[in-house]
Amino acid sequence: MRLRDRVALITGAGQGIGRATALRFAMEGARVAVNDVDQEAAEKTVSLIRQAGGTARFVPADVTKREEVETMINRIVERWGRLDILINNAGITRDALAVRLKEDQVKMMDEAAWDAVINVNLKGTFLCAQAAAVPMIRQQYGRIVNTASIGMLGNIGQANYSASKAGVVGLTRTLALEWARYNITVNCIAPGAVETRMTDAIPEKIKEGLIRRIPLRRMAKPEEVAALHLFLVSDEASYITGQVIFIDGGLSVGICGG
Ligand SMILES: NC(=O)c1ccc[n+]([C@@H]2O[C@H](COP(=O)([O-])OP(=O)(O)OC[C@H]3O[C@@H](n4cnc5c(N)ncnc54)[C@H](O)[C@@H]3O)[C@@H](O)[C@H]2O)c1
Repeated sequence: MRLRDRVALITGAGQGIGRATALRFAMEGARVAVNDVDQEAAEKTVSLIRQAGGTARFVPADVTKREEVETMINRIVERWGRLDILINNAGITRDALAVRLKEDQVKMMDEAAWDAVINVNLKGTFLCAQAAAVPMIRQQYGRIVNTASIGMLGNIGQANYSASKAGVVGLTRTLALEWARYNITVNCIAPGAVETRMTDAIPEKIKEGLIRRIPLRRMAKPEEVAALHLFLVSDEASYITGQVIFIDGGLSVGICGG
């Protein structure tokens, strides 16, 4: 077991990549704090872990709200005495073209769509990392993994999402520098297309075109992303910090065709 006695918090763990990571960490011996704004979904993750013999509990918080985030971290430390691992996974999309002119009509990505995505994906990552760093600095140990996306390289209809994920990379690199002295590593994963609710929303035709451009010719399973999370928080990755690891079937490499 690679995470025996570790305490891990995973945000947005009610489904998709977060749920797969929560399950994997629990099977590797971690006590897992399962966060999500969707309580029912998070509790399902907790019961799946318990059924499999692992240890987990639901920790409510909207990651965009500082007070809720701080209360969540304090509760974990009160209950389990420490916090070793934070997976900043919660994320949303609100896709729209930045500006669209159709006949005489001007349509713009509205401010609400911009704010919502920047708040969850970027601010939420910052708030959770800040709050988690307090016990991690005290114990002189921590592993933080943030979530960017291949979308950070640019994607039509995702000005908000792309900006948020590019921001996560700058945040990751800076926190890695600030917290290395405390034995806290901060890394970032950049998934391509993963089979989750987020990609279920993509129309089938567009999905087929996307898969044709992926050198491995398929989307990732959430469990494959969970395996990367596990590596980055394990002892084997103790000398890796400030990095962005693409997990995209080669999509980001094949810009001249795959
Ligand atoms: N699925 C993909 O293809 C893909 C690709 C690149 C990056 N990502 C990133 O991976 C992460 C997980 O994606 P997924 O596909 O599993 O998504 P998902 O939609 O299946 O799950 C995301 C979870 O985050 C939760 N959440 C949303 N807002 C929250 C908030 N304010 N506080 C707490 N929880 C909140 C949702 O309720 C949901 O359960 C996201 O950051 C996403 O941007 C996904």
